[in-house]
Amino acid sequence: MLSYRHSFHAGNHADVLKHLVLLGVLKKLCAKDKAFSYLDSHSGAGMYDLLSSNALVNAEHESGISRLWQQDLKHPLLQDYLACVNSFNEDGRLRFYPGSPAFALWLARPQDRLQLLDLQPEELGVLQYYLGRDERVSIHQRDAFEGLLALTPPEPRRGLALIDPSFEQKEDYQRVVTTAQKVLRRWPVGIMAIWYPILAAERDRSPWLKGALQRAKLNAVTSIELRVAEQAQEFGMHGSGILLINTPWQFPGLMQEVLEEVVPLLGDKASFEIETLTEAE
Ligand SMILES: C[S@@+](CC[C@H](N)C(=O)[O-])C[C@H]1O[C@@H](n2cnc3c(N)ncnc32)[C@H](O)[C@@H]1O
Repeated sequence: MLSYRHSFHAGNHADVLKHLVLLGVLKKLCAKDKAFSYLDSHSGAGMYDLLSSNALVNAEHESGISRLWQQDLKHPLLQDYLACVNSFNEDGRLRFYPGSPAFALWLARPQDRLQLLDLQPEELGVLQYYLGRDERVSIHQRDAFEGLLALTPPEPRRGLALIDPSFEQKEDYQRVVTTAQKVLRRWPVGIMAIWYPILAAERDRSPWLKGALQRAKLNAVTSIELRVAEQAQEFGMHGSGILLINTPWQFPGLMQEVLEEVVPLLGDKASFEIETLTEAE
């Protein structure tokens, strides 16, 4: 039984990293008129109320979006990121934070298509309410790993799949690797973005995940990591990363510029690292 609810974490530092990478990749796809597909295997609710009782438990947005909200950010990608968040907060106060499907729909053009998956009825209800009426959007109550594979290759063919598990089950790490390999066999041109937590030393499986994708010899694998505190020994998530497969051309340089501007605003201990794990063929 899954108990994870993203409403406890919405808008935190990990969401900032993930949604910047997401917008950055989709903007690259928007550079051509040709349509793209966006597949989101773990969509969540698509919209989060930062004043809800869940969000108020730890107010995690204070480590992320709340630090950026009123800054005069210069990079065009950062301006887009804030413009998207602002579009859901038109009275000038930060209350609603969009999830990954809402960021994607904000950038999507009439020709683009979104396939959104989740298992939790509560999340799916909110997702349906906010995004479900748009004819470009299909929502599936379906297991992420089985469903993603069944929906690939998507039509249109060019596009991005985001895999953003809650990692409640240890097996999720292996399932991510196996699913990425199978999806890419069916959809070699697909860009994949895999989010992962960077945890306290005794629980951190991020080195294993990066090593496994590197050994799988997939094309143009890049890791982009953001840390906001020092690593603890036993508990806590002090950072997160995104693994990109089929990384778009010049994307690491773009993220370098973006993170150089934004990371100092996320605290004295914040840092980032971008690594090329496998080269483009
Ligand atoms: C980290 S949240 C997603 C956040 C979202 N991608 C965003 O950035 O706004 C993970 C979501 O995965 C869902 N989930 C967990 N295991 C799943 C599975 N096996 N299949 C489909 N959804 C799953 C949870 O219900 C939760 O909504």
